[in-house]
Amino acid sequence: MQTGRGHGNGKLILLGEHAVVYGRPALAAALSAGVQATAEPWPTPRLEVATWGRSFDADQPQSEPGAEMLRQAFCALLDGYLATLGVRPSLCVRASLALPGSAGLGGSAALSVAIVRAIDDALGQAREPHAVAEAASAAERVFHGNPSGVDTAMAASSGVALYRKGQPLEPVALRRALALVVGHSGEPGMTLDTVASVRRQYDRDPRKLDEIFDGIQAIVQNGKTALETGELWRLGQLMTLNQTLLNTLLLSTTRLEVMCRAAHHAGALGAKLTGGGGGGCMIALCESAEQAEPVRAALIALGHETFIAEVSA
Ligand code: MEV
Repeated sequence: MQTGRGHGNGKLILLGEHAVVYGRPALAAALSAGVQATAEPWPTPRLEVATWGRSFDADQPQSEPGAEMLRQAFCALLDGYLATLGVRPSLCVRASLALPGSAGLGGSAALSVAIVRAIDDALGQAREPHAVAEAASAAERVFHGNPSGVDTAMAASSGVALYRKGQPLEPVALRRALALVVGHSGEPGMTLDTVASVRRQYDRDPRKLDEIFDGIQAIVQNGKTALETGELWRLGQLMTLNQTLLNTLLLSTTRLEVMCRAAHHAGALGAKLTGGGGGGCMIALCESAEQAEPVRAALIALGHETFIAEVSA
């Protein structure tokens, strides 16, 4: 066995988070910032995630809940190899993240995909992106309970795509490049919790939630057209509309609302939370990279960490 290497991308959900769990489409962009992993032969399976200060043998239960969840996610990936290859690979996987965790940027999916790719590489096997995403989803189920699969699909892919649960990614050809300011609220966004909260709301009033999800679906479909025609102002409006519906699902926070408002005042075409919500990051669409600067400055003035993500056409 050789030392294997793998990468997983982060992602930004442009439109459609949460509704995508209920079979509606979502639009997402892959972020090249993500996770790098290596895998080398080792006496027992082991995971080391230096960025999170965690390292353990796969068969050593962890007392800290976050570490135990990570261990179980790693074991779920190893079990996948056991089921398909008949052996549990004995490797030490080392991963480092260039993305903040609990931020809505797909850090856990990027980690899962990077681990699968590093192990595949060490075993000398190559898989198509959709098969990598499928293997990685075993870990994502541990992290997020009932994931739609959009995060792992984007972590294994690139560009902008429309995703619908259980279907292949549909690449979207952009007429114009996108300049997005990403701002971190500083509050952790726990996707496991927000997905569970939406599920409780759904169980209480499925008709109301289905109406909201249908509204989000229309926003996503119009958003795809706006991306294809380069009508960024329309995409911005749709993002802001999507934010209103996410807020009715109790997924926004005062901080995220303040950030979205500040981005609008500084000239953004539209703004919304991205990913699981309840904290984490928001995104603001700008006319160009140049016009993104004042938006970024407005968020920095409020004390937030930010970066500009440019998505090429
Ligand atoms: C999380 O990035 C996106 C959610 O829609 C959950 C999922 O699709 O699995 C909130």
